[in-house]
Formats: sequence, C-alpha cells, structure tokens
Amino acid sequence: MLETLAQKAPDPLLKIIKMFREDPRSDKIDLGVGVYRDAAGATPVMRAVKDAEALLLAGQKTKTYVGQQGDVDFLRLVGQLAFGEMSRDFVSIQAVGGTGALRLGCDLLRESGAKRVLLPAPCWPNHPSIVRAARLEAMDVAFFNIAEQRIDMDALIAGFDRAERGDGVILQACCHNPLGADFSLEQWRTLAEALNARGLIPFVDLAYQGFGDGVDEDVAGARALLERVPEALIAVSEAKSFGIYRERVGALYVKTAEKARAAAMSNLAAIARANYSMPPDHGAAVVREVLSDDALRASWREELDEIRGHIKRTRVALAAERVNSIPMHLIADQKGMFSTLPLNEAQVAALRETHGIYMTDAARINVAGLRAADIPRFVDALRAVA
Ligand code: LMR
Repeated sequence: MLETLAQKAPDPLLKIIKMFREDPRSDKIDLGVGVYRDAAGATPVMRAVKDAEALLLAGQKTKTYVGQQGDVDFLRLVGQLAFGEMSRDFVSIQAVGGTGALRLGCDLLRESGAKRVLLPAPCWPNHPSIVRAARLEAMDVAFFNIAEQRIDMDALIAGFDRAERGDGVILQACCHNPLGADFSLEQWRTLAEALNARGLIPFVDLAYQGFGDGVDEDVAGARALLERVPEALIAVSEAKSFGIYRERVGALYVKTAEKARAAAMSNLAAIARANYSMPPDHGAAVVREVLSDDALRASWREELDEIRGHIKRTRVALAAERVNSIPMHLIADQKGMFSTLPLNEAQVAALRETHGIYMTDAARINVAGLRAADIPRFVDALRAVA
C-alpha cells in the first residue's frame, strides 16, 4: 500500500535552505529563511530568554501535562500584549507555533461550515498548504503590485466578492511575509467594513510583533480591525519576537459572541486533542516568565528595540543604492524582515548560481539576514542580473 505513494515536491523554502547548506562557497549569502541575524551574522538567544530559562530550570517542580488549553498565564499575557483589554473576551488555546495556530483556526473554520479561505497574494508560501490540509479551498486574491511595490486595495476588496458568507480571509497583522508592505490604519478600517458587508471572517496572522515600528505600533491596525468585526480568528507566533524559533510557541485567539464561546473552545480542544493532544511547555513558559517579570520584560523590549533598529538600518542602507529597474528606495519604507524584489526566476537562479546569493524562487529576501559587510556584494550582484 505505502509503495503506491507518489513523490511530493519539496517545500519551496526548505529546498532553498538545503541548497544553501550544501553550497561549499565560503562567501555565500543566505537571504532565504526568515530568521533574524545580528551584525555578526548570528541568531543569539535573547538575554531575557536565557534568564527566564535559568529561572525555569531552578524552579520547575514537575513535568506533568500543562492541560488541554495550554499555559493559561501565557495565553493571558500574550493576548494582552497583542490586543490589550479586548483580549479578555477572546477564546484562546496554545498552539504548536504560529503554523499550528493557523491550522487549528482553519480546522475550526471548516467545522463552522466555511468552504474556503482567501489568501491575498503573494502570501506566505505555507498558507495555502495549511488551508488545504484543513480541507478548505485556498483562493488567491490579487493584492499587491510587485513592480510598483504597492498594495492594491481595490483589487483585494473586489476579490472578496468571490467568497461566501462565513469564509475566512488571512490578513497579516504586520511586517508582511513576503512583501514587507503593511496596511495603513485607514486601510484596516476599510477592510473591516468590506468584510462585515460580506459576512467574511478575518483570520489575522501575527508573527512579527515588534519587528516593524514597535510592539504597540505593529498591532494598532489589527486592533482597529478587531474592534470593528463581530467575529475573528487570530494566530500568534512568538518565534521571531522572542527569537525562540525552534521552541514552536504559538496561540490561537477567537473573537465571537459570548454565547458562542464555550462551543468554540470545546471545538478547539477536540481538534487539538485529536492532533497532538497537549501542547509543549518550555517555550510558552519562557514567554510567560519574561512577560510577567518587570525586569525581564524591560530587557526583552530593549533587545527587541535593538533588533528592529538593526533591520531598519539595513533597509535604509539598501534603499540608498541604485539598481537599474528595481525601486530600491521603497525598501526603507517597508517593515520587518522581508521584501520581494521584482526579479524573475532566471534572475534569482543567476544570483544563486553565479553569485552564491540565496533567496526564495519568488525573489523574497530576508533583509534581516543581510550583514552590512555583504551589502556591496549583494548590490553588485543585483546590478549584474537586473
Ligand atoms: C519564513 O517564511 O522564512 C519563516 O516563516 C520560516 C518558515 O517556516 O517558512
């Protein structure tokens, strides 16, 4: 039976990671995977995370299960950080990373009768697979003009008409992956109106809080949306904000009417139980420790400020360069780790093969992976292919 399985194509991002690892050139540049690197090219454990881990190691008395919903203090603190006071009314459950939270949310949408999830394109390359794994239709809607590097709100809202009431729409809260282009406050308000008029459910994906303009600034738009819609799902990842990628720390929050909350929670518990049963503890416990201790929290905010400052400086340095047809100056206005360059697959392949510079096939670069020392070589290579 198993011998009938057909070979699957490798995940496009994981494929690039593997190719980079196997490239023997010592001056190769990795702009593929979305991981922050400091000026020395390292991804260190944050100071507050190290301190929280030491506290946990000294104080932890048991390794018994945390419980079906996960760490409720973690959920409360992360909810408060992301949505402020309104989070008290949200149903929540810990998840295995932001990806796990997206999957839980898609499964919940499917349970509620949704047929499809709209994906403003280009989206994070894993979004369609998660939607389809939940047996929902993944429907791309036009959203961004790559050549001009601008959001096309009219096209996006026109795309909403292809969905039916109760369908979901994934909207990235900040630091868009792969575009770095975020909605303005005004655009979030317009989105809320358009979604409400069609009975569509926003599914907010928040994975880079603090990487754009600041911890509070980065969620202002999503909060404006959430204040205006009756129902919403929100997937939160703390992988990047706390630099704990491999710990798989995420959570799903659900906004719904008070009378519907117990049923929503019971569905989430049942979905999680049949999938991985109980969530892992360590990463969520670290986030809980950091957010609940004033000194650790201040240390974390300070280091997050340093990270954001480093990304912004890299963006400004790139934006100062002139490269033929690429509107480099717009890179400074974009937010977070990613930008997508107007390059075709042949140009991306030439950068990889001739210059040892790796990015996704769709020309997404991880700005946060670029060391200052590598910028001149990167720009020269761009000039050679573009
Ligand atoms: C990325 O987009 O590079 C990260 O979110 C890692 C991943 O799993 O895709």
